[in-house]
Amino acid sequence: MTHITSILQEIRSFPPPTAFQSQAHIKSVEEYEALWEHAKAHPDLFWAEQAASVLTWDRPWQETLLNKGMESQWFVGGQLNASVNCLDRHLDTQGDKVALIAEGEPGEVRELTYRQLHREVCKVANALQSLGIQKGDVVSIYMPMVPELVIAVLACARLGVMHSVVFAGFSAEALRNRNEDAKAKLLITADGLYRRGAIVPLKETVDQSLRGVSSVKNVLVYRRTGAPIAMEPGRDLWWHDLVPSQSEVCVPVSVESEHPLFLLYTSGSTGKPKGIVHTTAGYLLGTALTHRYIFDLKPTDRYWCTADVGWITGHSYVIYGPLCNGTTVVLYEGAPNFPDWGRFWKIIEKHGVTQFYTAPTAIRSLMQQGDAWPAQYDLSSLRLLGTVGEPINPKAWLWFHEKIGKTRCPIVDTWWQTETGAIMIAPLPGAISTKPGCATRPFFGIVPDIVDRQGHSLGDNEGGLLVIRQPWPSMLRTIHGDHERFLDQYCKVIPGEVYFTGDGARRDSDGDYWILGRVDDVLNVAGHRLSTMEIESALVSHPSVAEAAVVGKPDEVRGEAICCFVTLKGDAIPGEELLKELKIHVVDQIGALARPEEIRFVQALPKTRSGKIMRRLLRDLAAGRQITGDVSTLEDLATLDTIRAASAEDDM
Ligand code: WTA
Repeated sequence: MTHITSILQEIRSFPPPTAFQSQAHIKSVEEYEALWEHAKAHPDLFWAEQAASVLTWDRPWQETLLNKGMESQWFVGGQLNASVNCLDRHLDTQGDKVALIAEGEPGEVRELTYRQLHREVCKVANALQSLGIQKGDVVSIYMPMVPELVIAVLACARLGVMHSVVFAGFSAEALRNRNEDAKAKLLITADGLYRRGAIVPLKETVDQSLRGVSSVKNVLVYRRTGAPIAMEPGRDLWWHDLVPSQSEVCVPVSVESEHPLFLLYTSGSTGKPKGIVHTTAGYLLGTALTHRYIFDLKPTDRYWCTADVGWITGHSYVIYGPLCNGTTVVLYEGAPNFPDWGRFWKIIEKHGVTQFYTAPTAIRSLMQQGDAWPAQYDLSSLRLLGTVGEPINPKAWLWFHEKIGKTRCPIVDTWWQTETGAIMIAPLPGAISTKPGCATRPFFGIVPDIVDRQGHSLGDNEGGLLVIRQPWPSMLRTIHGDHERFLDQYCKVIPGEVYFTGDGARRDSDGDYWILGRVDDVLNVAGHRLSTMEIESALVSHPSVAEAAVVGKPDEVRGEAICCFVTLKGDAIPGEELLKELKIHVVDQIGALARPEEIRFVQALPKTRSGKIMRRLLRDLAAGRQITGDVSTLEDLATLDTIRAASAEDDM
């Protein structure tokens, strides 16, 4: 019962554009395959070569890989510092190169060179030390997407202090839980941030979160908006009072390879958030190497990843990977639709962005606004596009390819997880042909497989469970304070010493991997296991549909019945007629097997703040149950009420 029937077959394939290919780091499938085979056969050798060339070490390691199955340790005996790798080592060669181009939502732009960024990081690190923060402590960071966020992160890294960045959209309760679990001593925040033209009062939320007992002794507050806030004497300190007078010299703390670099909370599909722990050397190596090859990095690039630093994508591909590679990084504080839906395209034009890395949910919203927005801007600086976070439906992929990349830019669909630290499966853009909705091939040193529950490998095009067969340097080492949970959730689910991703996938006859979504999101309809993502993709390919979420609801006869929640495009009319049309459309696209039992038209879908649909909540709603479990990651609680209201109307 672990096979997943994959029913949506996409056959379009796009070879790397010739002009791109001729200048790429890796120029052919043969070159990719030779390197991948080498890394698979000799992982110690491969990773040792890469670690020596990519990172700057204070002390060389003795043992490349110490391995107890998936409990691996890398570069044992070595010492280094992450902020040195991101900053100091660039100073002699490119100290005056721009490291950050930061655009605030109101429109102001600040540029910081590597030298300036280094100076600020040293000052903040000294400020932290003056507050008694030292190696082994945890500092919590709850900040807007401004340079000071990057500075705070790197200041922690400089001291061997673990940072725990909490996305600034989270509630007081979510912030409190995370700080308590992490036992954070210091919280770095701002008075507020700009979002859709309004001020979000961050400090107020922080104050609420700290009421009652807390491990947090001090709060360091950066002034972003200037709006009046309360400061608690003895606990709260202004950044502008403490930081400017600090010395610009701060000796970095050299740490062991396996020293934890940070903690990042990710919501499990059920239960309490997990503090994922990443290490210094392995994580840095993974992010820097993947960033260089998958984004085909060149020294003159101006690279933009829209992810918030509150998520792993922001950690790995806004901060650590790019800065380790000495890249010029664009950072944007605000919303994609402020003051209008042209904002992203305007940023690309204004800063000459070369690589644009974003999420399918953002692409779908931008696509919905029509082609006139991107058409107003000069996007000719772009040479590569990327997506991450969920499977991208072919329609959105093609729009991105045509309207944004003008068919000239390869799209790297990057599959990975908070737990994997770095990208695991993605096309190398000069070597691998892309297919809409397909993450394609594993990165060097990554050995995925598709298996059944017993761990047996499945054949081509057989949908099953995605596992990773060999440890890799950037993988999580544990869940903070709960090593058993780490072993239970990732290492022991499937027999045979493999890492279980929790995702379903299939491999096609070209060896390309197609991600089918979370295994929890698989339906069992009359003995067939169907991927909800494929049914969603079929729904979204209908011209009236904006977004769709598909879940199962209990059905006595078939086990589960297909229940769809659909949001419509502006001019579409919900009603019986469209309902019938959509059911027929799904059957046409996929087959009678996937005929929806029920379609509900709703105003909005419940999403996490990183844009993932929370199907768990929809499953409860579809089955008419109370919502259970954690809702702290939900973007907007009100969406649940409107969906409930919509279904109550249907029932009448
Ligand atoms: C999903 C984000 C399909 C997947 C980096 C994974 C994807 C989860 C893709 C991790 C992709 C991420 N195609 N699905 N390109 N990228 N996912 O921890 O289900 O926020 O397990 O990390 O997102 O989400 P997380």
